[in-house]
Amino acid sequence: MLGNFRFHNPTRLYFGENALDFLDEELPKYGKTVQLIYGGGSIRKNGVYELVVAKLTENGKTIVEDGGVMPNPTVEKLREGIAIARQNKVDLLLAVGGGSCCDYAKAVSVSVHCDEDPWEKYYVRFEEPDCEIVPVGCVLTMAGTGSEMNAGSVITNHAQKLKIGHVFSDAVMPKFSLLNPRFTLSLPKRQMVAGIYDIFNHICEQYFSGEDDNTSDYIAEGLMRSVIHSSLIAVENPNDYEARSNIMWTATWALNTLIACGKSTDWMVHMLGQAAGAYTDATHGMTLAAVSLPYYRHILPYGLPKFVRFAKEVWGVCADGKTDGQIAAEGLEKMENWMKALGVSLSLRELGATEDMIEGMADATLILDGGYHVLTREEIVEIFKQSL
Ligand code: NZQ
Ligand code: ZN
Repeated sequence: MLGNFRFHNPTRLYFGENALDFLDEELPKYGKTVQLIYGGGSIRKNGVYELVVAKLTENGKTIVEDGGVMPNPTVEKLREGIAIARQNKVDLLLAVGGGSCCDYAKAVSVSVHCDEDPWEKYYVRFEEPDCEIVPVGCVLTMAGTGSEMNAGSVITNHAQKLKIGHVFSDAVMPKFSLLNPRFTLSLPKRQMVAGIYDIFNHICEQYFSGEDDNTSDYIAEGLMRSVIHSSLIAVENPNDYEARSNIMWTATWALNTLIACGKSTDWMVHMLGQAAGAYTDATHGMTLAAVSLPYYRHILPYGLPKFVRFAKEVWGVCADGKTDGQIAAEGLEKMENWMKALGVSLSLRELGATEDMIEGMADATLILDGGYHVLTREEIVEIFKQSL
Protein backbone atom coordinates (compact mmCIF):
# COMPACT_ATOMS: atom_id res chain seq x y z
CA MET A 1 0.00 0.00 0.00
CA LEU A 2 1.23 3.49 -0.81
CA GLY A 3 1.82 5.17 2.56
CA ASN A 4 0.55 8.59 3.57
CA PHE A 5 2.64 11.57 2.60
CA ARG A 6 2.87 15.30 2.05
CA PHE A 7 4.72 16.53 -1.02
CA HIS A 8 5.96 20.09 -1.30
CA ASN A 9 9.07 21.27 -3.05
CA PRO A 10 9.55 25.04 -2.93
CA THR A 11 12.80 25.29 -4.97
CA ARG A 12 12.45 27.19 -8.26
CA LEU A 13 14.60 25.39 -10.77
CA TYR A 14 15.99 26.79 -14.02
CA PHE A 15 17.52 24.27 -16.41
CA GLY A 16 19.49 24.57 -19.62
CA GLU A 17 22.21 26.51 -21.38
CA ASN A 18 20.64 29.85 -20.48
CA ALA A 19 19.94 28.95 -16.83
CA LEU A 20 22.32 31.57 -15.45
CA ASP A 21 20.32 34.37 -17.10
CA PHE A 22 17.60 33.74 -14.54
CA LEU A 23 19.84 35.26 -11.87
CA ASP A 24 18.43 38.53 -13.26
CA GLU A 25 14.99 37.33 -12.20
CA GLU A 26 16.04 35.94 -8.83
CA LEU A 27 18.65 38.35 -7.46
CA PRO A 28 16.36 41.38 -7.16
CA LYS A 29 14.24 39.41 -4.66
CA TYR A 30 17.02 39.51 -2.05
CA GLY A 31 19.02 42.17 -0.23
CA LYS A 32 22.27 43.72 -1.36
CA THR A 33 24.94 41.55 0.20
CA VAL A 34 25.66 38.13 -1.27
CA GLN A 35 28.01 35.55 0.23
CA LEU A 36 29.57 33.87 -2.80
CA ILE A 37 30.31 30.30 -1.76
CA TYR A 38 32.55 28.09 -3.88
CA GLY A 39 35.04 25.26 -3.66
CA GLY A 40 38.73 24.76 -4.33
CA GLY A 41 38.98 26.67 -7.59
CA SER A 42 37.27 24.69 -10.37
CA ILE A 43 34.90 27.59 -11.06
CA ARG A 44 37.82 29.92 -11.59
CA LYS A 45 39.31 27.52 -14.16
CA ASN A 46 36.13 26.85 -16.13
CA GLY A 47 34.95 30.46 -16.27
CA VAL A 48 31.79 30.05 -14.18
CA TYR A 49 33.17 32.37 -11.50
CA GLU A 50 33.45 35.30 -13.96
CA LEU A 51 29.96 34.69 -15.31
CA VAL A 52 28.40 34.66 -11.84
CA VAL A 53 30.37 37.68 -10.61
CA ALA A 54 29.27 39.61 -13.71
CA LYS A 55 25.62 38.82 -12.97
CA LEU A 56 26.00 39.83 -9.32
CA THR A 57 27.68 43.09 -10.30
CA GLU A 58 25.08 43.92 -12.95
CA ASN A 59 22.42 43.41 -10.31
CA GLY A 60 24.13 45.85 -7.93
CA LYS A 61 25.16 43.28 -5.34
CA THR A 62 28.03 43.54 -2.87
CA ILE A 63 30.00 40.30 -3.05
CA VAL A 64 31.45 38.70 0.06
CA GLU A 65 33.86 35.94 -0.93
CA ASP A 66 33.67 32.55 0.76
CA GLY A 67 35.80 30.13 -1.26
CA GLY A 68 37.67 27.00 -0.26
CA VAL A 69 34.69 24.80 0.59
CA MET A 70 36.24 21.34 0.50
CA PRO A 71 34.58 18.14 -0.74
CA ASN A 72 32.87 16.72 2.38
CA PRO A 73 32.70 20.14 4.10
CA THR A 74 33.95 20.20 7.67
CA VAL A 75 32.49 21.65 10.83
CA GLU A 76 35.51 24.00 11.05
CA LYS A 77 34.75 25.43 7.62
CA LEU A 78 31.11 25.77 8.66
CA ARG A 79 32.14 27.92 11.63
CA GLU A 80 34.23 30.07 9.29
CA GLY A 81 31.26 30.54 6.94
CA ILE A 82 28.98 31.50 9.81
CA ALA A 83 31.49 34.14 10.95
CA ILE A 84 31.69 35.60 7.42
CA ALA A 85 27.90 35.77 7.16
CA ARG A 86 27.51 37.40 10.57
CA GLN A 87 30.30 39.91 10.06
CA ASN A 88 28.89 41.06 6.73
CA LYS A 89 25.20 40.68 7.56
CA VAL A 90 24.66 38.82 4.30
CA ASP A 91 21.23 38.68 2.66
CA LEU A 92 21.76 35.70 0.36
CA LEU A 93 24.06 32.68 0.33
CA LEU A 94 24.89 31.80 -3.28
CA ALA A 95 26.54 28.39 -3.63
CA VAL A 96 28.40 27.87 -6.90
CA GLY A 97 29.66 24.31 -7.13
CA GLY A 98 28.66 20.75 -6.34
CA GLY A 99 26.79 19.20 -3.45
CA SER A 100 29.48 20.19 -0.96
CA CYS A 101 29.01 23.92 -1.60
CA CYS A 102 25.25 23.60 -1.61
CA ASP A 103 25.14 21.50 1.59
CA TYR A 104 27.52 23.92 3.27
CA ALA A 105 25.39 26.91 2.28
CA LYS A 106 22.35 25.28 3.88
CA ALA A 107 24.31 24.57 7.06
CA VAL A 108 25.43 28.20 7.22
CA SER A 109 21.88 29.37 6.48
CA VAL A 110 20.42 27.77 9.61
CA SER A 111 23.34 28.75 11.83
CA VAL A 112 23.89 32.48 11.25
CA HIS A 113 21.09 33.47 13.61
CA CYS A 114 21.34 30.43 15.88
CA ASP A 115 22.65 30.92 19.42
CA GLU A 116 23.48 27.27 19.98
CA ASP A 117 26.34 25.19 18.61
CA PRO A 118 25.17 24.15 15.11
CA TRP A 119 27.00 20.81 15.13
CA GLU A 120 25.36 19.77 18.39
CA LYS A 121 21.95 21.15 17.51
CA TYR A 122 21.59 20.03 13.90
CA TYR A 123 23.97 17.11 13.41
CA VAL A 124 23.95 15.43 16.80
CA ARG A 125 20.43 16.17 18.06
CA PHE A 126 18.84 16.53 14.57
CA GLU A 127 16.77 19.53 15.68
CA GLU A 128 15.03 21.88 13.28
CA PRO A 129 16.08 25.54 13.14
CA ASP A 130 14.03 27.85 15.34
CA CYS A 131 15.74 31.01 14.12
CA GLU A 132 15.67 33.12 10.96
CA ILE A 133 17.10 31.21 7.97
CA VAL A 134 19.27 33.10 5.47
CA PRO A 135 18.05 32.28 1.93
CA VAL A 136 20.18 30.00 -0.24
CA GLY A 137 20.54 29.97 -4.03
CA CYS A 138 22.57 27.48 -6.03
CA VAL A 139 24.46 27.43 -9.32
CA LEU A 140 25.16 23.73 -9.75
CA THR A 141 28.37 22.56 -11.42
CA MET A 142 28.27 18.84 -10.61
CA ALA A 143 25.40 16.36 -10.96
CA GLY A 144 25.01 13.87 -8.16
CA THR A 145 23.71 14.74 -4.74
CA GLY A 146 20.36 16.37 -5.55
CA SER A 147 21.28 19.02 -2.99
CA GLU A 148 20.06 21.66 -5.45
CA MET A 149 16.44 20.70 -4.78
CA ASN A 150 16.41 19.10 -1.36
CA ALA A 151 16.91 20.01 2.27
CA GLY A 152 19.83 17.68 2.94
CA SER A 153 23.11 18.95 4.34
CA VAL A 154 26.03 16.68 5.19
CA ILE A 155 28.85 17.91 7.43
CA THR A 156 32.00 16.05 8.49
CA ASN A 157 33.55 16.27 11.94
CA HIS A 158 37.04 14.78 11.64
CA ALA A 159 37.84 15.19 15.33
CA GLN A 160 34.82 13.03 16.22
CA LYS A 161 35.26 10.81 13.13
CA LEU A 162 31.65 11.42 12.12
CA LYS A 163 30.06 12.39 8.82
CA ILE A 164 26.42 13.21 9.39
CA GLY A 165 23.61 14.32 7.12
CA HIS A 166 20.58 16.19 8.36
CA VAL A 167 17.52 16.30 6.14
CA PHE A 168 15.96 19.55 7.26
CA SER A 169 12.42 20.78 6.67
CA ASP A 170 11.35 22.40 3.38
CA ALA A 171 12.27 25.85 4.70
CA VAL A 172 15.95 24.99 4.27
CA MET A 173 15.70 24.01 0.59
CA PRO A 174 17.38 26.39 -1.85
CA LYS A 175 15.05 29.20 -2.92
CA PHE A 176 16.29 28.74 -6.46
CA SER A 177 18.76 26.57 -8.36
CA LEU A 178 20.29 27.16 -11.76
CA LEU A 179 21.36 24.06 -13.71
CA ASN A 180 23.38 24.48 -16.87
CA PRO A 181 24.68 21.05 -17.94
CA ARG A 182 27.55 22.76 -19.82
CA PHE A 183 28.99 23.80 -16.46
CA THR A 184 29.45 20.11 -15.60
CA LEU A 185 31.56 19.33 -18.68
CA SER A 186 34.81 20.35 -16.99
CA LEU A 187 34.39 17.71 -14.27
CA PRO A 188 37.22 15.18 -14.14
CA LYS A 189 35.94 11.78 -15.26
CA ARG A 190 36.42 10.31 -11.78
CA GLN A 191 34.08 12.94 -10.29
CA MET A 192 31.58 12.50 -13.11
CA VAL A 193 31.27 8.75 -12.50
CA ALA A 194 31.20 9.19 -8.71
CA GLY A 195 28.25 11.55 -9.21
CA ILE A 196 26.55 9.07 -11.54
CA TYR A 197 26.82 6.28 -9.01
CA ASP A 198 25.56 8.61 -6.28
CA ILE A 199 22.46 9.32 -8.39
CA PHE A 200 21.84 5.63 -9.04
CA ASN A 201 22.25 4.77 -5.39
CA HIS A 202 19.87 7.50 -4.24
CA ILE A 203 17.23 5.82 -6.36
CA CYS A 204 18.12 2.36 -5.01
CA GLU A 205 17.92 3.59 -1.42
CA GLN A 206 14.30 4.57 -1.95
CA TYR A 207 13.38 1.67 -4.27
CA PHE A 208 14.59 -1.16 -2.01
CA SER A 209 11.92 -0.75 0.63
CA GLY A 210 8.38 -2.09 0.70
CA GLU A 211 7.15 -4.75 -1.69
CA ASP A 212 3.99 -3.18 -2.97
CA ASP A 213 2.93 -1.99 -6.35
CA ASN A 214 3.29 1.78 -6.22
CA THR A 215 3.88 4.71 -8.52
CA SER A 216 7.10 5.80 -6.79
CA ASP A 217 8.77 2.52 -7.79
CA TYR A 218 7.71 2.85 -11.44
CA ILE A 219 9.18 6.36 -11.52
CA ALA A 220 12.33 5.04 -9.82
CA GLU A 221 12.74 2.33 -12.49
CA GLY A 222 12.45 4.92 -15.26
CA LEU A 223 15.06 7.12 -13.58
CA MET A 224 17.42 4.18 -13.14
CA ARG A 225 17.08 3.17 -16.79
CA SER A 226 17.72 6.74 -17.85
CA VAL A 227 20.87 7.13 -15.76
CA ILE A 228 22.26 3.75 -16.90
CA HIS A 229 21.63 4.65 -20.54
CA SER A 230 23.07 8.17 -20.35
CA SER A 231 26.04 7.16 -18.21
CA LEU A 232 27.26 4.67 -20.80
CA ILE A 233 27.18 7.41 -23.43
CA ALA A 234 28.89 9.90 -21.11
CA VAL A 235 31.79 7.60 -20.17
CA GLU A 236 32.52 7.13 -23.87
CA ASN A 237 32.02 10.78 -24.71
CA PRO A 238 31.97 13.08 -21.66
CA ASN A 239 31.12 16.04 -23.92
CA ASP A 240 27.81 14.57 -25.09
CA TYR A 241 25.47 17.37 -24.01
CA GLU A 242 22.33 15.29 -24.25
CA ALA A 243 23.70 12.56 -22.00
CA ARG A 244 25.14 15.06 -19.50
CA SER A 245 21.89 17.01 -19.36
CA ASN A 246 19.85 13.84 -18.80
CA ILE A 247 22.24 12.85 -16.01
CA MET A 248 21.89 16.27 -14.39
CA TRP A 249 18.09 16.22 -14.50
CA THR A 250 17.93 12.63 -13.26
CA ALA A 251 20.12 13.59 -10.30
CA THR A 252 17.63 16.23 -9.28
CA TRP A 253 14.65 13.88 -9.47
CA ALA A 254 16.52 11.08 -7.76
CA LEU A 255 16.63 13.04 -4.52
CA ASN A 256 14.10 15.83 -4.46
CA THR A 257 11.73 13.82 -2.22
CA LEU A 258 9.36 12.73 -5.04
CA ILE A 259 10.28 9.04 -5.24
CA ALA A 260 10.32 8.72 -1.46
CA CYS A 261 6.61 9.52 -1.39
CA GLY A 262 4.72 6.73 0.31
CA LYS A 263 7.86 4.68 0.97
CA SER A 264 9.77 3.76 4.12
CA THR A 265 13.18 4.02 2.30
CA ASP A 266 16.40 2.21 3.19
CA TRP A 267 19.50 4.53 3.15
CA MET A 268 21.86 1.95 4.66
CA VAL A 269 24.35 2.16 1.77
CA HIS A 270 24.64 5.86 2.60
CA MET A 271 25.06 5.16 6.31
CA LEU A 272 27.86 2.67 5.57
CA GLY A 273 29.42 4.97 2.96
CA GLN A 274 29.30 7.99 5.26
CA ALA A 275 31.02 6.06 8.06
CA ALA A 276 33.74 5.05 5.59
CA GLY A 277 33.90 8.67 4.46
CA ALA A 278 34.42 9.89 8.03
CA TYR A 279 37.52 7.68 8.25
CA THR A 280 38.93 8.17 4.75
CA ASP A 281 37.53 11.51 3.53
CA ALA A 282 37.05 9.68 0.21
CA THR A 283 34.74 10.91 -2.58
CA HIS A 284 31.12 10.33 -1.56
CA GLY A 285 29.95 8.38 -4.62
CA MET A 286 33.01 6.13 -4.47
CA THR A 287 32.36 5.15 -0.85
CA LEU A 288 28.81 4.16 -1.84
CA ALA A 289 30.05 2.12 -4.78
CA ALA A 290 32.53 0.24 -2.61
CA VAL A 291 29.95 -0.93 -0.05
CA SER A 292 26.94 -1.44 -2.34
CA LEU A 293 27.41 -4.93 -3.76
CA PRO A 294 28.32 -6.59 -0.43
CA TYR A 295 25.32 -4.83 1.16
CA TYR A 296 22.81 -5.70 -1.56
CA ARG A 297 24.00 -9.32 -1.77
CA HIS A 298 23.59 -9.51 1.99
CA ILE A 299 20.02 -8.19 2.09
CA LEU A 300 18.88 -9.89 -1.13
CA PRO A 301 17.22 -12.88 0.63
CA TYR A 302 15.13 -10.49 2.76
CA GLY A 303 13.79 -8.54 -0.22
CA LEU A 304 13.88 -11.20 -2.93
CA PRO A 305 10.72 -10.16 -4.87
CA LYS A 306 12.03 -6.61 -5.24
CA PHE A 307 15.46 -7.77 -6.35
CA VAL A 308 13.75 -9.96 -8.97
CA ARG A 309 11.75 -6.97 -10.18
CA PHE A 310 14.94 -4.85 -10.22
CA ALA A 311 16.69 -7.49 -12.35
CA LYS A 312 13.86 -7.71 -14.85
CA GLU A 313 12.70 -4.10 -15.07
CA VAL A 314 15.98 -2.23 -14.67
CA TRP A 315 18.56 -4.65 -16.09
CA GLY A 316 16.41 -6.54 -18.61
CA VAL A 317 17.24 -9.96 -17.17
CA CYS A 318 15.31 -12.73 -18.94
CA ALA A 319 13.46 -14.82 -16.37
CA ASP A 320 12.83 -17.92 -18.50
CA GLY A 321 13.66 -21.18 -16.74
CA LYS A 322 15.39 -19.45 -13.82
CA THR A 323 14.61 -19.44 -10.10
CA ASP A 324 13.91 -16.13 -8.38
CA GLY A 325 17.30 -16.40 -6.66
CA GLN A 326 19.06 -16.79 -10.00
CA ILE A 327 17.20 -13.87 -11.57
CA ALA A 328 17.96 -11.58 -8.62
CA ALA A 329 21.64 -12.57 -8.58
CA GLU A 330 21.90 -11.95 -12.31
CA GLY A 331 20.49 -8.45 -11.80
CA LEU A 332 23.24 -7.64 -9.32
CA GLU A 333 25.85 -9.11 -11.68
CA LYS A 334 24.64 -6.77 -14.42
CA MET A 335 24.81 -3.89 -11.98
CA GLU A 336 28.38 -4.90 -11.09
CA ASN A 337 29.35 -4.99 -14.79
CA TRP A 338 27.88 -1.52 -15.26
CA MET A 339 29.83 -0.22 -12.25
CA LYS A 340 33.01 -1.68 -13.78
CA ALA A 341 32.22 -0.02 -17.10
CA LEU A 342 31.87 3.31 -15.28
CA GLY A 343 35.11 2.74 -13.41
CA VAL A 344 33.77 3.41 -9.92
CA SER A 345 35.62 2.02 -6.94
CA LEU A 346 34.63 -1.47 -5.79
CA SER A 347 36.97 -1.55 -2.82
CA LEU A 348 37.23 0.54 0.33
CA ARG A 349 40.94 -0.27 0.53
CA GLU A 350 41.44 1.61 -2.74
CA LEU A 351 39.86 4.61 -0.98
CA GLY A 352 42.26 4.48 1.95
CA ALA A 353 40.43 2.23 4.42
CA THR A 354 42.35 -0.45 6.33
CA GLU A 355 41.38 -3.44 8.51
CA ASP A 356 42.05 -1.54 11.74
CA MET A 357 39.39 1.04 10.82
CA ILE A 358 36.55 -1.46 10.54
CA GLU A 359 35.46 -1.50 14.18
CA GLY A 360 35.45 2.30 14.31
CA MET A 361 33.54 2.56 11.03
CA ALA A 362 30.98 0.10 12.39
CA ASP A 363 30.57 2.30 15.49
CA ALA A 364 30.11 5.35 13.25
CA THR A 365 27.38 3.66 11.17
CA LEU A 366 23.90 4.80 12.01
CA ILE A 367 21.52 1.81 11.81
CA LEU A 368 18.23 2.61 10.09
CA ASP A 369 15.18 0.38 9.89
CA GLY A 370 13.38 1.32 6.65
CA GLY A 371 14.87 -1.37 4.39
CA TYR A 372 14.31 -5.11 4.08
CA HIS A 373 16.51 -6.07 6.98
CA VAL A 374 17.77 -4.20 10.03
CA LEU A 375 21.52 -4.82 10.25
CA THR A 376 23.23 -5.85 13.46
CA ARG A 377 26.66 -4.47 14.32
CA GLU A 378 28.18 -7.87 13.47
CA GLU A 379 26.62 -7.76 10.02
CA ILE A 380 27.97 -4.25 9.49
CA VAL A 381 31.47 -5.42 10.37
CA GLU A 382 31.07 -8.32 7.92
CA ILE A 383 29.88 -6.00 5.11
CA PHE A 384 32.82 -3.65 5.70
CA LYS A 385 35.20 -6.64 5.58
CA GLN A 386 33.72 -7.73 2.26
CA SER A 387 33.93 -4.16 0.96
CA LEU A 388 37.65 -3.84 1.69
O1 NZQ B 1 36.04 22.30 -5.02
P1 NZQ B 1 36.01 22.50 -6.48
O2 NZQ B 1 37.21 23.14 -7.02
O3 NZQ B 1 34.73 23.14 -6.96
O4 NZQ B 1 36.06 21.01 -7.15
C1 NZQ B 1 35.04 20.06 -6.97
C2 NZQ B 1 35.43 18.95 -6.01
O5 NZQ B 1 36.81 18.74 -6.03
C3 NZQ B 1 34.87 19.32 -8.26
N1 NZQ B 1 33.97 19.98 -9.19
C4 NZQ B 1 32.66 20.29 -9.01
N2 NZQ B 1 32.16 20.81 -10.13
C5 NZQ B 1 33.17 20.85 -11.04
C6 NZQ B 1 34.32 20.33 -10.44
N3 NZQ B 1 35.50 20.24 -11.08
C7 NZQ B 1 35.55 20.66 -12.36
N4 NZQ B 1 34.48 21.14 -13.01
C8 NZQ B 1 33.27 21.25 -12.40
N5 NZQ B 1 32.20 21.71 -13.07
O6 NZQ B 1 34.35 18.06 -7.90
C9 NZQ B 1 34.80 17.71 -6.61
C10 NZQ B 1 33.64 17.19 -5.82
O7 NZQ B 1 32.69 18.20 -5.57
P2 NZQ B 1 31.61 18.03 -4.41
O8 NZQ B 1 30.75 19.19 -4.38
O9 NZQ B 1 32.31 17.61 -3.17
O10 NZQ B 1 30.82 16.72 -4.95
P3 NZQ B 1 29.34 16.27 -4.74
O11 NZQ B 1 28.41 17.06 -5.55
O12 NZQ B 1 29.36 14.80 -4.93
O13 NZQ B 1 29.02 16.59 -3.19
C11 NZQ B 1 29.48 15.72 -2.17
C12 NZQ B 1 28.95 16.13 -0.82
O14 NZQ B 1 27.51 16.10 -0.79
C13 NZQ B 1 27.06 15.22 0.24
C14 NZQ B 1 28.20 14.23 0.34
O15 NZQ B 1 28.18 13.49 1.52
C15 NZQ B 1 29.41 15.13 0.23
O16 NZQ B 1 29.68 15.75 1.46
N6 NZQ B 1 25.72 14.70 -0.07
C16 NZQ B 1 24.66 15.53 0.00
C17 NZQ B 1 23.37 15.08 -0.17
C18 NZQ B 1 22.19 15.95 -0.08
N7 NZQ B 1 22.31 17.23 0.12
O17 NZQ B 1 21.07 15.47 -0.18
C19 NZQ B 1 23.07 13.67 -0.43
C20 NZQ B 1 24.24 12.89 -0.88
O18 NZQ B 1 23.97 11.55 -0.63
C21 NZQ B 1 25.54 13.27 -0.25
O19 NZQ B 1 25.67 12.64 1.00
ZN1 ZN C 1 24.55 10.27 -1.99
